[in-house]
Amino acid sequence: MSRKPLIAGNWKMNKTGVQAVEAASELKRLVEGKEDVEIMIAPTYTCLYQVSQSLKGSSISLGAQDLYWEKNGAFTGEISSEMLVDAGCSHVIIGHSERRQYFNETDETVNRKIKAALDAGLKPVFCIGETEKEREAEETFSVLDKQIRDGLKSFVSDDLADIVIAYEPVWAIGTGKTATKEQAQEAHRFVRSLIEKLFGKPLAENLRILYGGSVKPENVRSIMEMPDVDGALVGGASLNPLTFSKLVFFNNN
Ligand code: PGA
Repeated sequence: MSRKPLIAGNWKMNKTGVQAVEAASELKRLVEGKEDVEIMIAPTYTCLYQVSQSLKGSSISLGAQDLYWEKNGAFTGEISSEMLVDAGCSHVIIGHSERRQYFNETDETVNRKIKAALDAGLKPVFCIGETEKEREAEETFSVLDKQIRDGLKSFVSDDLADIVIAYEPVWAIGTGKTATKEQAQEAHRFVRSLIEKLFGKPLAENLRILYGGSVKPENVRSIMEMPDVDGALVGGASLNPLTFSKLVFFNNN
């Protein structure tokens, strides 16, 4: 299989400009020459431009943690896709469970954001995942099914070549609980089959599906072994450059 692994760090609401630049520069040094894994970090909006400058000359990609779908106008506090490109971003995380949980993100707003990202040439990292209650009620697959169908509504296969999906069970985010590798594989397999059903085999086969939820150096390897796991979206363990670099080097002995 030729999908290049992607290890992505979501810094969430952490680090000031100076701290972000320091961490990014250290990471750049630690992962220099590592070419068989794609790396992305997503600092806060206010640090994006500074971090983009410090990443110059490295292959680490820069992502934002969200965007707003309108191009410009009277939307106080919001940031457009064009502004993210201007700040040096190539990627953007969309539909993270914290946005869904605390900021009223819905499948419909996710859909509009994915469209805005793709129109601007940004690569969306589209997050999906079930809550603990939904898993206990055996609703995992129906939740994922709805999030994908509604989030990707009205796109066609050609639109989605640059999309990455991140499966992040909400109960595993920041809790120290990780899905077992079998649970991750089962969900990823389901996602890939659904993408195949909706958009065809070539897209499904090329699609990278990241696992997210308490990924750490101790568990990254076993999760990455699974055939449908193509990378990780990492919160807590991405904040320290040395720890994050260990995730990037998951495939080295
Ligand atoms: P975590 O967060 O690694 O701290 O669990 C993952 C995420 O929210 O993307």
